Amino acid sequence: MPLVTLKQLIKNASRDNKAVGAFSVGNMEMILGAIKAAEETNTPIIIQIAEVRLPTSPLAIIGPMMVAAAKNSRVDVCVHLDHGLKFETIKQALESGFSSVMIDGSILDYEENIALTQKVVEEARKYGASVEAELGVVGGNEGDGKSHSIKYTDPAVAVDFCRRTGIDALAVAIGNAHGHYKIQPELRIDVLKDIFDVCDTPLVLHGGTGITPQIFRECIKNGIRKVNIATASFDAVATASRKTAEENGNYFSLSQNMADAVYDNVKNHIEIFNMKSEI
Ligand code: 13P
Repeated sequence: MPLVTLKQLIKNASRDNKAVGAFSVGNMEMILGAIKAAEETNTPIIIQIAEVRLPTSPLAIIGPMMVAAAKNSRVDVCVHLDHGLKFETIKQALESGFSSVMIDGSILDYEENIALTQKVVEEARKYGASVEAELGVVGGNEGDGKSHSIKYTDPAVAVDFCRRTGIDALAVAIGNAHGHYKIQPELRIDVLKDIFDVCDTPLVLHGGTGITPQIFRECIKNGIRKVNIATASFDAVATASRKTAEENGNYFSLSQNMADAVYDNVKNHIEIFNMKSEI
């Protein structure tokens, strides 16, 4: 199956009123577990890695592995750079064959965010790749140790931003946050609805870990077409590693257990994001 763009996957998901799961990976086992879940459910997915994760999973090594896994998959897979911060990193991901990149200028001034996003869109188009950008600020910690406070996406500004940048997907801030929620999150579905009503660009939900199936379904009903899951998969790997150690397992059982843990997590989420009927 081909490596596909985010734009293509989202187009199919929109037609079917579903969302595509975007699953963070950090090593080969995570990649294999995610792809296995996609193949078994016959469902396209996105595998992604955030720029802040590159010190432990260098792009020059994990990037080609992600691209090769996508190309060898029996289902469509998009390979995406999550939360790209520097133009050089975006370029490196595009050179490695990523079919999609996110530029996160959400904490910049509005005009600076637009200028940087326009520059990334222009570059990505040379490679036939898609672009996601963020407007408003998703809360929590993206892994860089810095905590960001939520700033809701303004629907009118979203329209202007998407029109001026020509992005393929927009990450919205509706009360969602990266990492573990301290209390059950109260997502502002009313804000999401308002954005969906006026903005033609497909919408992305970050901070998927800890959101209930019901809320995911509400979000998908109101225009979310890509959902990011990171912490739940990293936690699953850590738990599998501890369990393997307790069982006195060897390297090979550790490797298998990590892949299986990610497989279970990805499969669960794929089922939620692709449900036909309402729950
Ligand atoms: P979680 O870590 O909360 O699953 O968020 C993932 C994410 O949005 C990555 O960009």
